[in-house]
Amino acid sequence: MKKTIAAAAFMAALWATGAHAETINVFCAPTEYDFCTKIAGEWKDKTGNEAKINKMPALLDDAIPLYQQLLAAKSTDMDVLFLDVIWLGMFKNNMLDLSKLIPKEEQDAQFESTLGAARLDGALVAMPAYMDVGLMFYRKDLLEKYGKTPPKTWDDMAATAKDIQDKEREAGNKDMWGYVWQAKSYEGLTCDAIELIASNGGGTIISDDGKVTIDNPQAAEAIDKAKGWIGTISPQGVLNYDEEASRAIFENGNSVFHRNWPYVWGTSHEDASKIVDKVGVMPLPVGKEGEKSSGCLGPMYFGVSKYSSHPDASADFVGFITGKDAQKDRAVEYAVNPSVPALYEDPDVLKKIPFLKDNRQAFADAAVRPSGYTGTSYNRVSQAFYRSVHGMLSGDTKVEPGLKQLSKRLEKLKESR
Ligand code: GLC
Repeated sequence: MKKTIAAAAFMAALWATGAHAETINVFCAPTEYDFCTKIAGEWKDKTGNEAKINKMPALLDDAIPLYQQLLAAKSTDMDVLFLDVIWLGMFKNNMLDLSKLIPKEEQDAQFESTLGAARLDGALVAMPAYMDVGLMFYRKDLLEKYGKTPPKTWDDMAATAKDIQDKEREAGNKDMWGYVWQAKSYEGLTCDAIELIASNGGGTIISDDGKVTIDNPQAAEAIDKAKGWIGTISPQGVLNYDEEASRAIFENGNSVFHRNWPYVWGTSHEDASKIVDKVGVMPLPVGKEGEKSSGCLGPMYFGVSKYSSHPDASADFVGFITGKDAQKDRAVEYAVNPSVPALYEDPDVLKKIPFLKDNRQAFADAAVRPSGYTGTSYNRVSQAFYRSVHGMLSGDTKVEPGLKQLSKRLEKLKESR
């Protein structure tokens, strides 16, 4: 007993002098910066170690070349990486195996499928930090005002959006739009397009067993439909909107519907938002009756670089920031959906995110991007897909021939996987 106290006092003294404290570099998304900084502070109090938080580029896609460069150079300047689910295959060979470094009970506390997505070639390459799934946000107050119910199909959504948009404009709100979403040429468009296509029975680009499925009439129909929205219920600008740009329109009170990730529940209730208490949220509509709502699945992770000179401290930080307490904090502060199922019953979390239980269904029905099959070539596959869809939406390419061409290109890329 005495020995333990003496050891603790010794350690405390060491921390005080900074003699043994380690400093690690952590990458966090800009939208997570405040949260990461707060967690780093708590981790310092607990361990004496310091986690320096580095902001990733605003567009997460831009972190890929940055990571690639640092990892190729075996840089020791980067210890902890924030990772999108679709990057796990891409970076798996550069990540430390966490299976022995993170306590088993912390691993078991996560959604099995989410943790499973990070078990690659027998290693645990990252730990889930939170869940993401595409959702539909809408103006509850405006639907009520015009006697509308939340739409079940994309066609219903478009009709409701048009009707309310026109009436609101007539009433003097000239800036009103029906629907804002993400159609910029980037990863987000892969998500938005897959949601439309999968919920129309058109598949997820490449099937789990590796067939290129994108050239089909249901996919063409879904893209055509979305193309028709641009300039009618969606501003031309959506062709250049990412999540944050489209969110700004919605939270300024200028759109009836908005597709985004769960975090918008939190931001739309912050002081800067003009629509506090006017927001409803639901699973995304379906293309046809009988199809599944197919929100894009996008959990995020933290992992440790294989080249870190602080592997133990870094793994400890990853365990801390992905653990139940930190995830509860993130959920209660920012309405971000946890990847720890026990928190789906937590009263404080449910108070902040009342629709959390329904989201479990959205996770179950989610559309999964084909990164499992395509592995290291996912990025090229997704780039080919979103560039091609962007061309179709902006009218540069015709949809059906465009899908044929895309399909050929994907067959080639598949070979180089
Ligand atoms: C969100 C999702 C991520 C997706 C990205 C697209 O960050 O969590 O999976 O790739 O949006 O913009």
